[in-house]
Amino acid sequence: MSNKMWGGRFAAGPSDIMEEINASIGFDRKLASQDIAGSKAHVAMLAHAGIVSSADADAITKGLDEVGAEIEAGSFTFSRALEDIHMNVEQRLADLIGPAAGRLHTARSRNDQVALDFKLWVRDTIDALDAQLADLQQALAEKALAHASAVMPGFTHLQSAQPVTFGHHLLAYVEMISRDRGRLRDARKRLNESPLGAAALAGTSFPIDRDMTAKALGFDRPTANSLDSVADRDFVLETLGAAAICATHLSRFAEEIVLWTTPQFGFIKLSDAFSTGSSIMPQKRNPDAAELVRGKTGRVVGALVALFSVMKGLPLAYSKDMQEDKEGAFDALQTLSLTIAATAGMVRDMAPDLKRMKASAGAGYSTATDLADWLVRSLKMPFRDAHHVTGRIVAAASARAIALEKLSLAEMQAIEPRIGAEVFGVLGVVRSVNSRTSYGGTAPANVRRQARRWIAKLKAPAK
Ligand code: ARG
Repeated sequence: MSNKMWGGRFAAGPSDIMEEINASIGFDRKLASQDIAGSKAHVAMLAHAGIVSSADADAITKGLDEVGAEIEAGSFTFSRALEDIHMNVEQRLADLIGPAAGRLHTARSRNDQVALDFKLWVRDTIDALDAQLADLQQALAEKALAHASAVMPGFTHLQSAQPVTFGHHLLAYVEMISRDRGRLRDARKRLNESPLGAAALAGTSFPIDRDMTAKALGFDRPTANSLDSVADRDFVLETLGAAAICATHLSRFAEEIVLWTTPQFGFIKLSDAFSTGSSIMPQKRNPDAAELVRGKTGRVVGALVALFSVMKGLPLAYSKDMQEDKEGAFDALQTLSLTIAATAGMVRDMAPDLKRMKASAGAGYSTATDLADWLVRSLKMPFRDAHHVTGRIVAAASARAIALEKLSLAEMQAIEPRIGAEVFGVLGVVRSVNSRTSYGGTAPANVRRQARRWIAKLKAPAK
């Protein structure tokens, strides 16, 4: 049978394999509610502009609501022969209300329709992700406040560098997520122009009111160029870009959770709720959720790369290649949502082993910089000289395999005679973190202030 939508030009129907490669209904049914909302706005505008009668518009609107209810109830039969969500909805509308349904597609094409539906979906998804990310920030900031003065090792090259506090470390992620939210907000702002009315690519000869549909659907304005309207997928690329960066942040944190839960680090424990066992090794507690947050990042980044590859060679305006924009984006953004939820769950669940963190914070001569700074302050040495003297003192301690503060004053004075007993005042890890009061530094007072600032900001109604 030839196709009902374009059967005028076609004598026969598509081959089975043609139908299979062509159909998107298997995944774009996800856009059903957006498709119906878009159609309702469109037909209301058509009636307002006198392009369809108000009787037909009413029938179409009621019919669309009915179709929407059927889809929501699960009683709708999706048909692959009808290719995509747009034609599935329209065909069902025709079954329900008869020939008036045929007027809905006036001054519209599936090209502007799909751009519209997908923009609406991406916009809703960004809003949901933003709320989830705010919740994750909340969890991190609360944990940070609770552990503002808990000392742990800070690393560079994953080698003990200088002591920091656990709260400070957690707040680093609050900052990253704040930028992630900003990027998503930017993407939302830029995408919020309505493509509806661009029609196939050139606009339409009907006296449509694009401002009216834009407003009805919550857009800031209509898009200004009809070709761009149907060819643009940067709104997806930009959102996936922001999502990929966010997933990368979560992945770095997940990697730390994996490290911290090892018996070797032993910095945190995840409860049974966020651990899994091994079917053969009875002693094991595996951080599978963290590993999967890390692993699923590949899918998010992959979707971005895949869509870049789809778009890079496409001439204007619409090409069917662009139907490949959806599955990756659906999967990536759903994946991100799941990983945000799992990360928030782990943050709330994790119990730090404060003793162990603190003991480890002193390992690897992590207060050597404090000694060098002391030499600069007390002996007025240039920092480079202080660095050299400290290096020799660390070497002396290391040769005896003891901590810096375990060297005797005489041993230190053998290297730098002007060192006095006051030096022992700066060598402990607690003193070290307490002294780092520069703005953005790890001093517990700073951490407390920053955690409180975030908690207050996250509670305030969004502007
Ligand atoms: N299912 C299509 C897509 O997702 C809808 C647009 C089809 N347009 C067309 N001219 N065939 O891209």
